[in-house]
Formats: sequence, structure tokens, C-alpha cells
Amino acid sequence: MASFASAERLPAADLYARVSRVIPPFEWPVFAEDAEAILRLKRERNAVVLAHNYQTPEIFNCVADIVGDSLALARKAMEVEAEVIVLAGVHFMAETAKLLNPSKTVLIPDVAAGCSLADSITAEDVRLMRRRHPGVPVVTYVNTSVAVKAESDICCTSGNAKRVVEALGVPRVIMLPDEYLARNIAAETDVEIIAWEGHCEVHETFRAADIAEVREAHPGVTVLAHPECPPDVVAAADFSGSTAALSDYIAGRQPPRVVLMTECSMSDNIAVQHPAVEFIRPCNLCPHMKRITLANIRASLEENRHVVTIDPAMADRARLAVERMLAI
Ligand code: 13P
Ligand code: SF4
Repeated sequence: MASFASAERLPAADLYARVSRVIPPFEWPVFAEDAEAILRLKRERNAVVLAHNYQTPEIFNCVADIVGDSLALARKAMEVEAEVIVLAGVHFMAETAKLLNPSKTVLIPDVAAGCSLADSITAEDVRLMRRRHPGVPVVTYVNTSVAVKAESDICCTSGNAKRVVEALGVPRVIMLPDEYLARNIAAETDVEIIAWEGHCEVHETFRAADIAEVREAHPGVTVLAHPECPPDVVAAADFSGSTAALSDYIAGRQPPRVVLMTECSMSDNIAVQHPAVEFIRPCNLCPHMKRITLANIRASLEENRHVVTIDPAMADRARLAVERMLAI
């Protein structure tokens, strides 16, 4: 699920048809004017909108040119030929886009759209881990700052973490900063993984007991969990993978009923594409992803804000860590 048909030429009624399953008609007027203005501004400014799978349905379905997980957005950002990239997602995603396509103007509609994982570790923490474990390579989740990436040997996402860890051909790696992702990958590989204690504030709150309750209430339900969930949650699920892998699972198997142990907008966005699948809660909202709205995407294009810049002293080393990942 890396790209979506362009909405550029669609009249307003057709735009609404894309989200009518998840946005009631009385709510659409709130979005319609901004959505149409964004389509016009994209043409005027030669801009594209890259949106993460956790963006709200009106962003994901009506104004995004490219949608996907962190890995797909990084790959696609590299290929963008338009002058301007608006990153509808969180700050580390915008930084990654700028790292990989430095000649473009990259805009993030709200600079406060952060990430609890990115906030859980500093560059000095990475240097400390290296001193504690000399010679052990550092694999860093893309959910980190450029400063942390610059201290790392290679990056990974939830979509390629196992492959990256095994591609290094060593018996031990340091994997930062998501403790649960590290432990979930450790359960699938012989490589020993030294973890950090960072957590995603959205996924850490899911409990294995939630899954037991859902299975009891909805016999036969398929449970899918993001690997940022605690290991006992992942173990109790039927499948675990990146947001793109969860989406592909549903597209390929069309399970009649599913629970997504992840951010709530995922269910809405997939529901739009797969009307035959019933989505059952629980889910959790990411407050950082939800800072991005149609109104501030429009403002970002009208006012050219907020321009993402990368400290040149770190750019080359951070880019190398991301490019090594993309080469695997
Ligand atoms: P994905 O790379 O699986 O899309 O995950 C990004 C993220 O922030 C999940 O919380
Ligand atoms: Fe960060 Fe978690 Fe939000 Fe993803 S869901 S952006 S990992 S806080």
C-alpha cells in the first residue's frame, strides 16, 4: 500500500465518496473547503503530500499522493520529483524525507508532531551504549532524531527490522530505542539483541488480556498487532507486522472480522478500501499523528511552513545509516 490514485481532478462529491463509509455526511462540510484548497495548492506549488497510514481518512484518502508505512514513505520520498513535499506524519518522517531528497522543500504542518520513541533517546545515550558494548553494531529504528541516526550504523523500520539485524552477519546487535520491537524481533532470530527502554506511548498500553476479551466476545476474530506492542500482546495475536504488512494481510486474506492492535485511523483507512471486513475496537489514538489536519496542511502550503532543515554536521552520517537500510 504505497501509493493512492491522485485525487487532483475529482469534483467535491467524488472526493466525499472516497470517505463516505467512515465520515458521516454532516461532517464532510468541515473538510470539503480545505481538501479542495489543498488540491489546488498542490498544483500551484508543484507539491505532493506523503501521508502515513495513521493519518485521518480525509487526509489519507482525499489529499495524499503517496500513503504507506515508514519504510514506503522513505523510499517514495527519495523518488519525488515535485518541488515540495508535505509530510503528513510525524517529525522524524519529515526529517527522513529531507535527508533522502535534500534538494526539495520538505514541510511538516505542525512541528510539535513528535514521537515518544524519538524522545526516549539522545545521541549521547547511543555513544554510552557503544562504550558499554564495544564493537557491537547499532541498529536504530527510524523513529529517532537525525542526531541519533548519525550515531548509528544502520537504521531499520518495523517492516524490515529482522532482515536488517540478520543482514549484518554478527552474533549480537544493539537495537534502539524500542524495547518491545527489539524483544519481538529477538523472538524471531538467533541474533542476540541488546535493547533500550524506549516505548511507543500508543502501543505500550495494549494488553494480552484485551485480546482474550475480544476473542471471547467475537469468536473467530483475527487479531493483528503492530510489533511496537509488548511481546505478550504480539504472541497472543494471529499476525504481527508493520502498518503496511497489517494492511496487506487484510487485503490478501479478507478476514470477515479483525481487531487491529494499533492506531485507530488504520482501521478507518482500511475499512474504506475493504468494505467486506468488519473492524472491532480496541485501538488507541496517537496524539502526535493527530496534530496533522487538513487545515494545517493547507496552511503549510499557503505559508510555506514549517520548513524542515537538517544540521549539516549530522546529515551525511544520518543519511548513510538510512541508505544502508534501504540497500538491504
Ligand atoms: P510503521 O513503519 O509500521 O508504519 O510504523 C510507524 C509508527 O510510528 C508506528 O507507531
Ligand atoms: Fe511514535 Fe507511537 Fe505515535 Fe508511532 S504511534 S508516531 S511510534 S508515538
